[in-house]
Amino acid sequence: MIIQKSTAPRISEFDPENFSFGNMFTDHMVICEYEDGKWGEVKLMPYGPLPFTPAMMGVNYGQACFEGMKAYKDKDSQVFIFRPEKNFSRINKSASRLAMPEIPAEVFLEGLKALVDLDRDWIPYGEGNSLYIRPLIFATEEALKARISNKYMFAIVATPAKSYYSAPVSVKISDYYSRAANGGVGFAKAAGNYAASFYPTQLANEEGYEQIIWTDDSTHEYFEESGTMNVFVRINDTIYTPPTSEKILDGVTRDSFIQLANKRGIELKVEPISVKSVIEAHKNGTLKEIWGVGTAVVTTVFKAIGYQGEKLELPQLPLEESFALTLQKDLVDLQTNVAEDPFGWRVLV
Ligand code: COI
Repeated sequence: MIIQKSTAPRISEFDPENFSFGNMFTDHMVICEYEDGKWGEVKLMPYGPLPFTPAMMGVNYGQACFEGMKAYKDKDSQVFIFRPEKNFSRINKSASRLAMPEIPAEVFLEGLKALVDLDRDWIPYGEGNSLYIRPLIFATEEALKARISNKYMFAIVATPAKSYYSAPVSVKISDYYSRAANGGVGFAKAAGNYAASFYPTQLANEEGYEQIIWTDDSTHEYFEESGTMNVFVRINDTIYTPPTSEKILDGVTRDSFIQLANKRGIELKVEPISVKSVIEAHKNGTLKEIWGVGTAVVTTVFKAIGYQGEKLELPQLPLEESFALTLQKDLVDLQTNVAEDPFGWRVLV
């Protein structure tokens, strides 16, 4: 690995008490380029802009995918990355589907650990605070032919993230737009999946909803995801979440919630969730909670769902009664080394 440390670090400008997620980046980044059929040497270098041409294939044809993961600091300033091998295996699934070369483990994991270690002072301590890490791969060949690129860049950048107890939001159940289709790229963290979600989300915003519950593209009768998150529904004391598929992202937070619910002995069923069953449960008072989970946000609780022009209010439960908030706390406590880690999910840096 080539290591070039920043000569003008900005860490003194970082105020851990006052920052917002995603627009301030740590002093360094990881870069590795792919050319002539192989990945080159990993470079850990000062964070900053790179020279690109508008003729770069990645920006023309969207051959690009990314990951989202986090590192945490405990009270003794020990630093942990959460389940990095899951993100490593998923970025390669995304890359394969987009006809991009897979990243070798040493490039991804060693680059990641070296960056987190060097920029550890950027990790804010405090309940739920973290460093959000964004690995990505994109096509860099300068060519406008619509074909697989011959050149790529793998990069990792990182941004401090606050404890993220977001306010409950209203979501619209999609009856027209879809996020993914059979045979498509829904399971991949393809950059284009996010681009395609912005317009329907903007329309939902105009109708007074913060996010969308994505339903299946052929019938719109089944829940798939919500916003940029996996979705969970609680009816009575049972939690439901749709099975992952080629249309549904295999979320790391989703998997962690499932395992934490099992550990607590909460009944959790991984099975299709029909819109009809959720509306019915709302009518008869058995619908207790709906929430989304993802790395960036951890959990977003829904306060209302929009369905056929109606806004249906949902109960807002306190922590002691809420499965969503209880499992979120279990997860954050484990991530930040406040609780035991019986699963071996924390990786010490
Ligand atoms: C994540 O939760 O890591 C995501 O990928 C959502 C992101 C688009 C902010």
